[in-house]
Amino acid sequence: MNISVTERIRRYRVVPVVVFQSIDEVRPTLRAMCEGGLPVAEITYRTDCAGEAIKIAVNEFPEMLIGAGTVINAEQCREALACGAKFIVSPGFSAAIAEICRAENVRYLGGCVTPTEIMTALSCGCDIVKFFPAASYGGLAAMKALSAAFPSVTFLPTGGISEQNLAEYLAWDKTFAVGGSWMTKGGPEETAEKCRTAVDIARSV
Ligand code: 3PG
Repeated sequence: MNISVTERIRRYRVVPVVVFQSIDEVRPTLRAMCEGGLPVAEITYRTDCAGEAIKIAVNEFPEMLIGAGTVINAEQCREALACGAKFIVSPGFSAAIAEICRAENVRYLGGCVTPTEIMTALSCGCDIVKFFPAASYGGLAAMKALSAAFPSVTFLPTGGISEQNLAEYLAWDKTFAVGGSWMTKGGPEETAEKCRTAVDIARSV
């Protein structure tokens, strides 16, 4: 597994989830994230320009850690890796994606909200799992209950995380990092400001 990717995410413990509607948004948004002190982006395959956006991000923002999100099948995973994504995130857990990432030595953060899904993740060698949508699936209390059975697992909760509850999630030692789109929903100035606030909150925990 790629140790440096997990170490880089641990440094910030916040992963901004980005949905680019058009390529025009890529450079100003990423620049704003860097200005806000959060050079990490999970660029999601929710829009057609995800692959192109990842390519631009990787080539033009070498100081950033760029991953692909909402990767829901092997084909998207292969494309994201070909475009230069350094980590792969899925809303659910896919053994096929896990296998590709294992072969490429890339960290895979697949989504798990049940014991069965976590058992599948562990059998695929994945001990950091996304927990999505966190708020709807019981939030911190649910992750803590799951953790009793899976002490080796750490979590990336996303879905319903904001400036208001970020600290609470990060205060738990089994929270690997939190993810969310709240930081990148406004224009560049707002993005920089929200990233700065998120970094400050994470540091203060
Ligand atoms: C994700 O893909 O992780 C989520 O869409 C993030 O959830 P949020 O939009 O509620 O932050």
